[in-house]
Amino acid sequence: MDITEALRTTAAVRDFTGEPVDDATVAAILDDARFAPSGGNRQPWRVAVVRSQDTMQRFAEVTRPIWDAYMATGEQGRVPFNVIDGAPPEDHATGYPNPLLDAPERTGVVLAIAADLRRVAAVDADADRLPMAGGGSVFPFCWSILLSARSRGVGGVLTTFMSRAEQEVAGELGLPPEHALCALIYLGVPTRIVTRLRREPVAAFASHETFDGPTFGD
Ligand SMILES: Cc1cc2nc3c(=O)[nH]c(=O)nc-3n(C[C@H](O)[C@H](O)[C@H](O)COP(=O)(O)O)c2cc1C
Repeated sequence: MDITEALRTTAAVRDFTGEPVDDATVAAILDDARFAPSGGNRQPWRVAVVRSQDTMQRFAEVTRPIWDAYMATGEQGRVPFNVIDGAPPEDHATGYPNPLLDAPERTGVVLAIAADLRRVAAVDADADRLPMAGGGSVFPFCWSILLSARSRGVGGVLTTFMSRAEQEVAGELGLPPEHALCALIYLGVPTRIVTRLRREPVAAFASHETFDGPTFGD
């Protein structure tokens, strides 16, 4: 697949047919993704290829309240879990739809992505704001997984809701000490292919020279 097309058409897919994604395909996807960049080229990622239905059910149980709080906060017009005003609402509805949680058995495979924190140069770890740099050594790898999957007819979605409760599945996953669970990537055969993505135009987020400079890309 042409890279420009892949970049512009890789949507988040949560609805899967239930067909498995076989080990050979997962191996090929990971073999592409391993070329992702990372700080100092230290490649801190570790991947658990999860097929156990019990583990997938457990993921759904643990992330359900997190997803509900996320959705309920969004319904109040706030950005969920943001560090400025991200407190979850006290009383809120439950059971917001998410096929990953409602029908985990239809997922083809889940890739649990961990980072070995001993290999991550978290240059802004002491900043007086939310540290952002460390994740940059693992999320390009995650995105490469999704791009490679798309090129092979496999859909998927990067999720981070488990990061809020990683200790609740650390045992099942055998998460080693000094590792962070960064993402669960759900992969499967999509029930339908969405290729038109809603994204802001360049002029909405880019400016000349400074962040308050003249609009770039008009
Ligand atoms: C860092 C990150 C975290 C995300 N976490 C979740 C998540 O916890 N659960 C989920 O269902 N989707 C999650 N997503 C998927 C986003 O909701 C999705 O990429 C976004 O809405 C764009 O969807 P689209 O490509 O279909 O337009 C996450 C995506 C990113 C990049």
